[in-house]
Amino acid sequence: MKTIIEPFRIKSVEPIKMNTFKDRVKILNNAYNNLFLINAKDVIIDLLTDSGTGAMSSQQWAGIMLGDESYAGSKSFTFFEKTIKSLTGFKNIIPTHQGRAAERILFSTIASEGDFIPSNNHFDTTRANIMNINAIPVDLVCDESYDFESNFHFKGNINIEKLEEFIKDKGADKIPVIMLTVTNNTGGGQAVSMENIKQTSIVARKYGIPFYLDACRFSENAYFIKKYESEFFDKKIIEIVKEMFSYADGCTMSAKKDAIANIGGFLCTNDNSLAKKKKDLLILTEGFPTYGGLSGRDLEAIAYGLIEVVEEDYLEYRIKSTQYLGKKLNELNIPIINPPGGHAIYVDAKSLLNHIPVHEFPGQALACELYLQGGIRTSEIGSLMFGGKNQDGSNFYSNHELVRLAIPRRTYTQSHIDYVIEVFSKIKDNIHNIKGLKIFYESDTLRHFTAKLERLK
Ligand code: F0G
Repeated sequence: MKTIIEPFRIKSVEPIKMNTFKDRVKILNNAYNNLFLINAKDVIIDLLTDSGTGAMSSQQWAGIMLGDESYAGSKSFTFFEKTIKSLTGFKNIIPTHQGRAAERILFSTIASEGDFIPSNNHFDTTRANIMNINAIPVDLVCDESYDFESNFHFKGNINIEKLEEFIKDKGADKIPVIMLTVTNNTGGGQAVSMENIKQTSIVARKYGIPFYLDACRFSENAYFIKKYESEFFDKKIIEIVKEMFSYADGCTMSAKKDAIANIGGFLCTNDNSLAKKKKDLLILTEGFPTYGGLSGRDLEAIAYGLIEVVEEDYLEYRIKSTQYLGKKLNELNIPIINPPGGHAIYVDAKSLLNHIPVHEFPGQALACELYLQGGIRTSEIGSLMFGGKNQDGSNFYSNHELVRLAIPRRTYTQSHIDYVIEVFSKIKDNIHNIKGLKIFYESDTLRHFTAKLERLK
């Protein structure tokens, strides 16, 4: 069948409050053209993130009621640990309150000041946690990643030659861990091939360096391997997932993504002595190792989510619906990063709004227009997020001006997505009337969350 249907029925609904263009002009003005400052009740379709925004299943909600809230050794932890061990094969499973807590614990125990940590692309929190211990994050994504037009299916791959050169140059003793983000969120949600995961592990072992996956979207990555890597056409998703993890020594995970939970994360490792250090730090800042800052009910929801996320029907619908949005935007000649990634579509605002110079934030201008025309909230991934001020007061800008349309899991139906497409077609007809923006307030760090902007005349 050609029609994609959602492989679920809706048992509980959350109303969306509709508003008008006139309402939205006022709301956006009051939020100083910053979508983070808008109340969620004033958003019609929220594509700000796919993190913690998914809909839980009836099984997950049942798990919530079964949560064992004992401080130590709860039944819920046993279930959580067993599920993750069977999925990943890792020996030590450490719960954390979300992905960035797992990152902080990993880097604080494995790395030291002045170390280098290579990856395809580090996500912002990963990068920030590495920098927080005065180590240096290094992005070595493959060259195809920079070509938005290329339809290569594994643009998330790390450049293996560059990785090996880098290790030889800096010395293996300065590299405490090699990471791979699957899928590669910062690089457009693009997949990493099994071959690339395997080669990375071969290089890591050759030089005696531990290899960890940032596994936030492991299941979406496995789908792309099944679809586009011929050796895996006939394999089950669960087999692919197990093979992916088998090449690594551990992982960090945000359960807010491919565990379809609203909160949570975990850190895994095969290294028993490192696990001990990590657990000591966990006790200090997150909680006892059988709950790690989560409640028993959260552990249940995560475990059931991990079982559901590798179901073939779920994944087929999940990726096909993201691809559907990408295909329709391509048909409208809206420039996007191709091929569509797993969890999001990234619109190239620099090329779409080519009349707005980079210092007037074309990405943010498009994000504001999507809100004004349709009440759609997205996130700018461009110079508002990654630009800033140099020490001499001059400005620096990002290489890309993107707008991310992140799709929450199991939350919106195809008619919501058709609505988003219609809003884009409306915007397209008026593209040259969209004006740039100017910042009139910004904080020193992570300015995009709180910046205030005004529209240029
Ligand atoms: N790694 C990746 C690849 C991520 O995408 C995220 C979060 C994290 C780590 C951190 O996990 O939020 O649980 O602490 N990404 C969200 C996003 C915020 O919108 O893409 P966390």
